[in-house]
Amino acid sequence: MTTRRGFLGGMAAAGGVATVAGAAAPVRDPAMIVSTWDFGAAANAAAFAKLKAGGSLIDAVEAGGMVPEADPTNHSVGYGGYPDRDGHVTLDAVIMDDRGGVGAVAALEDTVHAISVARAVMEKTPHTFIVGEGATRFARDQGFPKVDLLTPEAEKAWRDWLKTAQYKPEANIENRRMPRGGALDHDTIGLLARDASGRMAGACTTSGMAFKMRGRVGDSPQVGSGLYVEAGVGGATSTGLGEEVTRIAGTARVVASMRAGLSPQAACEEVVRHIARLRGDAIKGVQVGFLALSPQGEVGAFCLLPGFTYAVTDMAGRTVVKKGASLFAA
Ligand code: GLY
Repeated sequence: MTTRRGFLGGMAAAGGVATVAGAAAPVRDPAMIVSTWDFGAAANAAAFAKLKAGGSLIDAVEAGGMVPEADPTNHSVGYGGYPDRDGHVTLDAVIMDDRGGVGAVAALEDTVHAISVARAVMEKTPHTFIVGEGATRFARDQGFPKVDLLTPEAEKAWRDWLKTAQYKPEANIENRRMPRGGALDHDTIGLLARDASGRMAGACTTSGMAFKMRGRVGDSPQVGSGLYVEAGVGGATSTGLGEEVTRIAGTARVVASMRAGLSPQAACEEVVRHIARLRGDAIKGVQVGFLALSPQGEVGAFCLLPGFTYAVTDMAGRTVVKKGASLFAA
């Protein structure tokens, strides 16, 4: 197992091989940006372009999150997201740097770019988390345009779902793009980015579980559940059924394991195994996945069930979509 104990933050120049103070071997093919799911590839491209244009890490992860937020064919993030059981599309998002800078919103309505509102919370208020009607009012006050997020396709899926109104999570449903009447189509984009000096930032944005109870908030906007980033240690983001992440503060645990010396991969595996031990039969058929990145560009990913994919972009801007290894076969 690769360990990271003793890391002090040393990095070779961009495009070179990352080196870790006190470590035996450099990280091969260090990653610069990672994100959850195959749709993360387009988000990574936007984030990479922002960095190359001289933007900050926060600029980059915000730009990445904005891509699926604006995509009406993505039913788990932003505009076109599936609504709650009452027909309201409500968005959750968090953005975080590696020095405790954080902003989050939950149950935000009528606003496409929840991640940008989260950033405004971080940069323009003394708070870290604003929810519901207050978040929506804050978005208007900050000049974010009012937009009806419920597309005809999402409304149709909701009306189909209302015929049976079954409330049953399905693994990996988030990657199916067709309306899924009767199923809880959900998931999240989480992004992590680092620069050549090993500084990091992350973002996570979602419309949450489709047809959720009004007011339900998942893991995504919660620091330590949907996202956690710590200077000199690394970052982690999560996807899947948020309740299973929130009940154990999953990404805080991944990063704590990295701080204790586990590699990003080993840390993701430790937390997924913990969920399985803790929850037993309660997580049968449930998907949860974690994605982690170290300041040196080492990537980890692990999930409960097969089907979790993630996008990795290297220092040269090359992106590959990978499959996460899983604890269970099915
Ligand atoms: N992982 C997204 C949610 O459960 O809301």
